[in-house]
Amino acid sequence: MTFEQASTLPQVGALALAGLRYNGQIQPGQKVLLNGAGGGVGTLAVQIAKHFGAEVTGVDSPEKLELVTSLGADHVIDYTQADFTQYGPQYDLIIDVATHRSMFDYKRALNPRGAYGVIGRSQARFSQTVFLAPWISRFSSKKMGVIGSKPNQGLDLILEVFKDGKVVPIIDSTYPLSETAQAFRYFAEERVQGKIVITM
Ligand SMILES: NC(=O)c1ccc[n+]([C@@H]2O[C@H](COP(=O)([O-])OP(=O)(O)OC[C@H]3O[C@@H](n4cnc5c(N)ncnc54)[C@H](OP(=O)(O)O)[C@@H]3O)[C@@H](O)[C@H]2O)c1
Repeated sequence: MTFEQASTLPQVGALALAGLRYNGQIQPGQKVLLNGAGGGVGTLAVQIAKHFGAEVTGVDSPEKLELVTSLGADHVIDYTQADFTQYGPQYDLIIDVATHRSMFDYKRALNPRGAYGVIGRSQARFSQTVFLAPWISRFSSKKMGVIGSKPNQGLDLILEVFKDGKVVPIIDSTYPLSETAQAFRYFAEERVQGKIVITM
């Protein structure tokens, strides 16, 4: 593993694993949807979910769907063309790094014992989940909530699957430290696939 690859793994790796373990250990055949599959967390989560035998759907912008398919996703959805929350119950687990809808929309897309966990993006939607999810989970068979992670959690597993060649960190581009400002400008353009690395 190069230093660049290693630098991409601790945060998004721990979040991806925490997401996939949100409703207990992920099981083969489970239907998992990753909302924001082409980003830092998503590109790792797709690969790890496939390693565990899940049926994976990746949602992202059209430019990123080829990458998501190449990582093993069984289905991809272009969020500019289709709204996966409108098709009724389908998924056992939804991991959301791109939250932009009401959690009641996501609830509709869950199977009766399914789970929805939000990792980030819209602060307003994130806060809505923090306050409402415990109540929804209490009065419904569906589980909803926020996914957090502890530092370095699950890195042993990620190292194992990396060694086996089952997971490859996706690095969009690298910048020297002196060009950090350009790196952030590029990041803000929202075209990044996987991660940007600053080299020392
Ligand atoms: N919960 C925690 O403990 C914790 C800890 C650290 C960080 N975070 C959060 O984790 C998030 C970072 O995740 P990340 O590194 O994977 O982010 P990322 O690399 O920015 O990926 C997000 C992906 O979502 C896509 N996206 C944007 N709008 C979408 C939509 N409406 N539907 C589907 N996909 C959409 C983006 O594509 P386009 O831009 O091309 O549309 C992008 O590919 C941040 O929000 C951060 O705040 C959470």
